[in-house]
Amino acid sequence: MTTAFAPIAETPIAETPGPATPARVAVVDLRLTDFRNHAALRLACDGRHVVLAGENGAGKTNLIEALSLLTPGRGFRRARLDEMARLGGDGSWSVFARLAAPDGEAAIGTGLDAPGAEEETRQRRVRIDGVAARAADELLDRLRVLWLTPAMDGLFTGPAADRRRFLDRLVLALDPGHGARVAAYEKAMRGRNRLLEENRLDLDWLAAIEEQMAELGVAVASARVETVACLERLIAATRADAPFPHAELSLEGEIESMVARGGPAAEAEDAFRARLAESRRRDAAAGRTLDGPHRADLAVRHGPKAMPAHLSSTGEQKALLLGLVLAHARLVGETTGRAPLLLLDDIAAHLDPRRRGELFDVLEALGAQCWMTGTDASAFAALGERAVVFDLAGGRLQRRD
Ligand SMILES: Nc1ncnc2c1ncn2[C@@H]1O[C@H](COP(=O)(O)OP(=O)(O)OP(=O)(O)O)[C@@H](O)[C@H]1O
Ligand SMILES: [Mg+2]
Repeated sequence: MTTAFAPIAETPIAETPGPATPARVAVVDLRLTDFRNHAALRLACDGRHVVLAGENGAGKTNLIEALSLLTPGRGFRRARLDEMARLGGDGSWSVFARLAAPDGEAAIGTGLDAPGAEEETRQRRVRIDGVAARAADELLDRLRVLWLTPAMDGLFTGPAADRRRFLDRLVLALDPGHGARVAAYEKAMRGRNRLLEENRLDLDWLAAIEEQMAELGVAVASARVETVACLERLIAATRADAPFPHAELSLEGEIESMVARGGPAAEAEDAFRARLAESRRRDAAAGRTLDGPHRADLAVRHGPKAMPAHLSSTGEQKALLLGLVLAHARLVGETTGRAPLLLLDDIAAHLDPRRRGELFDVLEALGAQCWMTGTDASAFAALGERAVVFDLAGGRLQRRD
């Protein structure tokens, strides 16, 4: 299986930088209906950064969570769709945004219908320029959304699954087909696990599933390897000027290592398929598939300290992660020519004034619109005219002049 990703490997970032400043794609109008605590909220702005200030529980995180749904996935809280519906509402919710970009405007929206009498599984709806989209992946044509939230603070110390998901989001922002391939791989793997559980070890069907897993698994691993390589090149080229500590990345996983060594994808697929076939009994006994890209991990080191990230201090880890997210945002801008939308929840809390100033300067260079939240608007004063500040209280937004 070929990935849409190959051309990136052939044009190393460090050698062929993209446009100096990628096109800014900004949300200029946002409307939420029955989304969490927001019954009906409208925010109009002019494409500058947006700062949301308000007390704990005012709904700041909810508001930018809504923006995180304007990309495939379940948003940055990874909540169930029905949990996002306002308590006391009819169970439906919607998020609508008007985007401004140099090549024109776009209107994108997503939402969930109210539960019907017989409906059991509800999917979220996506609309682009008034037309229903077949899949949320289509949103990536208009907008890429990246984020950093307090829930990610434990990324380096937590389970590998979290880092794998983080990595897959990094890939998805560059390669829109990645999410569907990961989902298809996992579905095939669940099918294999079921057959193994039923002890049906010699079926042609099982071989067919393993064939699928090998193709998809190698495609998933290749895209991860490509993304990490691109990020590493960008970090190497920019680390001297970056205010935040640079990350050293390595991808841990058998299939990823095989792919990284080079050679035709077909060989890696054959090797993975053979591995799956020979480990049926072992996997049946274990009750799951023990080898594959679903076991990969993204190992991160704190570059300046030459130390594994998980051994760094809380503040060091936060700065490292912020540096990594910003490097990725730059990579997305340079690769696609369009700056991503950046959501930084509760960002000021962890940064001293000097660091905040540096962050604001990096945002300038990225050309991205950034939505930031905090309990104290004064922490964003250094942004000056570069941001519009809104106070959020009692479910109402008030723009500061
Ligand atoms: N489905 C829902 N319906 C109604 N209210 C909800 C729903 N989900 C969450 N809330 C409420 O929304 C409120 C705002 O939450 P949010 O996380 O956005 O606050 P915040 O402004 O980010 O606060 P903090 O400064 O503490 O981070 C909370 O009181 C929460 O209980
Ligand atoms: Mg919050």
